[in-house]
Amino acid sequence: SRNRCDAVSPSSSSIDVAELAEIDWDNIDFGLKPTDYMYAMKCSRDGDFSEGQLQRFGNIEINPSAAVLNYGQGLFEGLKAYRKQDGNILLFRPEENAIRMRNGAERMCMPAPSVEQFVEAVKATVLANKRWIPPPGKGSLYIRPLLMGTGPVLGLAPAPDYTFLIYVSPVGNYFKEGVAPINLIVENDFHRATPGGTGGVKTIGNYAAVLKAQAAAKAKGYSDVLYLDCLYKRYIEEVSSCNIFIVKDNVISTPAIKGTILPGITRKSIIEVARSHGFKVEERNVTVDELVEADEVFCTGTAVVLSPVGSITYKSQRVSYGEDGFGPVSKQLYTSLTSLQMGLCEDTMSWTV
Ligand code: COI
Repeated sequence: SRNRCDAVSPSSSSIDVAELAEIDWDNIDFGLKPTDYMYAMKCSRDGDFSEGQLQRFGNIEINPSAAVLNYGQGLFEGLKAYRKQDGNILLFRPEENAIRMRNGAERMCMPAPSVEQFVEAVKATVLANKRWIPPPGKGSLYIRPLLMGTGPVLGLAPAPDYTFLIYVSPVGNYFKEGVAPINLIVENDFHRATPGGTGGVKTIGNYAAVLKAQAAAKAKGYSDVLYLDCLYKRYIEEVSSCNIFIVKDNVISTPAIKGTILPGITRKSIIEVARSHGFKVEERNVTVDELVEADEVFCTGTAVVLSPVGSITYKSQRVSYGEDGFGPVSKQLYTSLTSLQMGLCEDTMSWTV
């Protein structure tokens, strides 16, 4: 069954190029390219989402006193659509994003769309923007659902009403390195999340909080920052935009989900794929010292997919892991995951829609 997912079998293409938007598909990065439509659905505090609708992509009008602007009452999601050789379009586990948004909404005192409403809205948005889905092998359509407290508040309280909005953009590789290994620096002063905080949900403020450390790391030539736990400064947590895994003697380990780690859907999928390949996978506390001994390190996320880590610098000490490319374990997992996501093999996991 392992090889069923490694077998790449592009058939003859039934894509009509006239259906594609006119952009340079060979050079798409991870930046916003305005597309045709976005989807919006309103909801009052009682949690009743009205029927959503597609509208032209563009600016939105928002009350200056909106809870999302004043108190950060907002969540986002990220998922991707791939175009297959036969012209079909695949979504990867969209119901997982819907469930994660519902969990986050509970933490942020917000109503959320049902799983069915979420998935149907994603499908409608993707189909309305079909010409922006890259040709096979050239990237994907990144789908960004937002849930925002858009009703006005002045005193600190949940908003009286909410907007669920989805926009999309064609994207290529997340890191400027492309699929080449990324170089991380361990952050010792700033932390991404605290126990009891919101690190375990995809609230917008978590991402604003990492910008300063990320900018400092980038100014020094690193790709991104690896955060430590804030109590002991001893356990690795995650990178600004993705989860992290280490491989040692064919055992794969990743920080356990315990409130400060974002429960990544790619993280979960890689764990399941690795186990189906016979690997032992441990979700546990991983110490920063273990990075020195690791055979391979890689990051996972919807945006980054699976990115090999070439080096990690901690307190001025740089540890390198095959800076030329993927290690054997990360390569195997990357191939299996992306073959499933892009529909290049039989979907033995029943993950694609
Ligand atoms: C994703 O991987 O989809 C994310 O939401 C991370 C974001 C910082 C790009």
